[in-house]
Amino acid sequence: MTSQLSPDIAFMTRFRSVNDNAEAELNRARDTASLEAWRIKYLGRRGQLSELTQQLGKLTLDQRRDWGPLVNNVKSTLEAKFAAAQNALERQAADAKLASDQLDVTLPGRPVTLGRLHPVTQMVREICAAFTSMGFDVVEGPEVEWERYNFDLLNIPRDHPARDMWDTLWIDWTDPTPEGRRMLLRTHTSPMQGRIMEKAKPPIRVIVPGKVFRHEATDARHEWHFYQVEGLAVDKDITFADLKGTLYEFARRIFGADRRIRFRCDYFPFVEPGVDVSVDCFICKGTGVMSNGHGCRVCSATGWLEIMGAGMVHPNVFKAVGYDPEEYTGFAFGMGPERIAMLKYGIDDIRHFYANDVRFLRQF
Ligand code: PHE
Repeated sequence: MTSQLSPDIAFMTRFRSVNDNAEAELNRARDTASLEAWRIKYLGRRGQLSELTQQLGKLTLDQRRDWGPLVNNVKSTLEAKFAAAQNALERQAADAKLASDQLDVTLPGRPVTLGRLHPVTQMVREICAAFTSMGFDVVEGPEVEWERYNFDLLNIPRDHPARDMWDTLWIDWTDPTPEGRRMLLRTHTSPMQGRIMEKAKPPIRVIVPGKVFRHEATDARHEWHFYQVEGLAVDKDITFADLKGTLYEFARRIFGADRRIRFRCDYFPFVEPGVDVSVDCFICKGTGVMSNGHGCRVCSATGWLEIMGAGMVHPNVFKAVGYDPEEYTGFAFGMGPERIAMLKYGIDDIRHFYANDVRFLRQF
């Protein structure tokens, strides 16, 4: 049948359908992908318009003169419409991006969360400042320590019952040398006494802030890790009066002049005589009884809170580091900044410091 259809009629039919379909489909193309598919189908190198152009060749010269301009006309019209559709789509995308990027300068600002120093850090710095103003230097030492510095040099030999005063966390390590040295997490900052005296000659005036560790259960007054600030002064003619004067001055700086301070005899193997230094309890005001009639939980109903141990450096410690105890005397003290912060700020449980509760930490 087709062979009987004149080429002229066949061409006209095809021309119309290409024209109609192209317009209709272009109107339906709503995104870049369908627009591009449309372009390939109609305007592409093998698209329906180049096919039409090829078919012009089957017509007579006269017919070609009639149809040729029409085909070209349709082609450029479709090209223009395609360009317009593409433009519209691009403008739409740009408008959408602008709308979503819009910055509303009238919105209120977002608050920035400010960081702050941990209350114990603040307390340690305050304590250090009190002593540096009296001429002490600040030194730091290792948290993993040799048994020798933590105990032996401090007049606490291996078999001495006083070792029970510090429940120790030992490091799982075997010395390959015959010395059989042992490592531990320091149970106090006192090991720095030996380290400093081994290296330096008197006069010595240092304080040592740092972390210490104890193998013990926690409660309102005990943590298994906490801070200490150690003090050491060695010179000729240092007396117990120098120790008292220094610690009174310190107490005035930290707690104010109206705080009561108490010195009592105490035992530490590395001092002689040894004392414990206490401040009156801030919860029960030194009475040992809380307002509800119960015994005070913070001071265990004693009315006093021990804030440090202290004393005159023991002659055996001087001998162990090669100082002549006839020539030099000195004092040492060790305190817990957490406990001092509890006194200052009325905190009733030491565990607050390391619970990482921002409601607590934000108050300092
Ligand atoms: N190191 C002792 C402790 O941790 C405290 C102390 C230091 C006591 C210096 C006397 C002198 O308990």
